[in-house]
Amino acid sequence: MKFKLLVADDEKNIREGLATALELDGHEVVTAADGNEGWKRFQKGDIDLVITDLRMPGLSGEEFLKRISAETPGVPVIVLTGHGTVETAVEAMRNGAYDFLTKPLNLDRLSLLVKRALRNRELELRQRRMEEELNHEKQFETIIGRSPVMYRVFDTVSRAAPTKASILITGESGVGKELVADAIHKLSPRKEKPLVKVHCAALAASLLESELFGHEKGSFTGAVSRQRGRFELAHEGTLFLDEIGEIEQNIQIKLLRVLQEKKFERVGGEETIETDVRLVAATNKDLKAEIEKGSFREDLYYRLNVVNIHVPPLRERKEDLPLLITAFLKEFAAENAKPVEGIDDKARSSLYAYDWPGNIRELRNCMESAVVMAKGTVITAGDLPPGIRAKSDEGWIRIPLGSTLEDAENIIIRDTISAQGGNKSKAAEVLAISRKTLHRKLAEDQAEDSSDDD
Ligand SMILES: Nc1ncnc2c1ncn2[C@@H]1O[C@H](COP(=O)(O)OP(=O)(O)OP(=O)(O)O)[C@@H](O)[C@H]1O
Ligand SMILES: [Mg+2]
Repeated sequence: MKFKLLVADDEKNIREGLATALELDGHEVVTAADGNEGWKRFQKGDIDLVITDLRMPGLSGEEFLKRISAETPGVPVIVLTGHGTVETAVEAMRNGAYDFLTKPLNLDRLSLLVKRALRNRELELRQRRMEEELNHEKQFETIIGRSPVMYRVFDTVSRAAPTKASILITGESGVGKELVADAIHKLSPRKEKPLVKVHCAALAASLLESELFGHEKGSFTGAVSRQRGRFELAHEGTLFLDEIGEIEQNIQIKLLRVLQEKKFERVGGEETIETDVRLVAATNKDLKAEIEKGSFREDLYYRLNVVNIHVPPLRERKEDLPLLITAFLKEFAAENAKPVEGIDDKARSSLYAYDWPGNIRELRNCMESAVVMAKGTVITAGDLPPGIRAKSDEGWIRIPLGSTLEDAENIIIRDTISAQGGNKSKAAEVLAISRKTLHRKLAEDQAEDSSDDD
């Protein structure tokens, strides 16, 4: 690990002498001629260790030290003091200095001191990284997944969540878009304020409009009192617009205006209402295609899609299956008070072979029904929904355990012929044997079958 050191001293000779010596030790060194310059350089945030003189014009070394320990306590500071000023050195230690050296400087001692401080620094950085990773896992505990593609999702969420940028979450149905929206809100500075959700596809256009923006009393039949809309309710919080691809053109225009001007009026109202809302939208549609077709506004798309988070389908992250299977199994065993503890190999391989077009929602439902169906403590292939069992056989040949090599060969030949729709020439081609060999093997098999019948 290469470290960056900052040397602050108003005496040019000392400053440059130290820099050269430390560079010879293999460190990268930057220098500052006084406390102010040092503090400015330090704030860039890439310094691993500071060596500073105490008496400097402008910002003193003491003050410089105090600021560093207050802001970035992990960075060691070595203080240089004049001869015979032990009290100031003690004071510096009290203010958070790692150690001190008295002038005239002993370079060997300095070199050792630096090496020791940096070793501590490295350990601390490593510790911090571990804590961050743990923290990261805790923050996303409701979203199960350790696949690299999901880590990329988590990473974008952590970076985008603290900002105010609009986020568009895309992905097939059932991949967990709503969970991602929850995580964004939870990780944002708005987490204490409301997260308001609107399911755009569930409402007719006119209802959706009053749902979003509210309405005044008497603005339409049935509007018996003034109603605040979701934009008002989500003030200072997050508004989650689910299935944004379903909204009609006139509402698209109104949404665009709120996004641009942060203002709107209630349906049938005159008063302009200002709103501070962070918008998160989700869709399982390909909005680019909708734009092409003319059913979604391009300008709105760009406003919504400042940050895009694409949640990949389950079939592209099958390495998440073991974790998901275990989690859902536990959940539904507890919910149904059933002593189901595991899943056998055959059932597991069916789950792995399946494509999961309904993604995690489908897997969740499948595990629920499997737990309910299970007779013993272990889920077997027979407990799985028939669609998943059958689908997983497609493209596979199943050979029962205990088969002889000859049995296995016969199963392979018969299944291949039937997969080729009965065309024996094609089957022979797939099996890479001649038609003649295929016929001979079939004849042998048949002969055996009929002798079995005897
Ligand atoms: N990574 C995950 N870990 C645990 N549960 C998950 C995960 N992803 C999704 N789920 C669960 O699967 C179900 C579907 O998730 P969600 O509603 O977030 O999907 P969606 O992408 O919004 O789907 P749709 O487009 O149909 O609205 C929910 O019950 C959710 O809790
Ligand atoms: Mg959803």
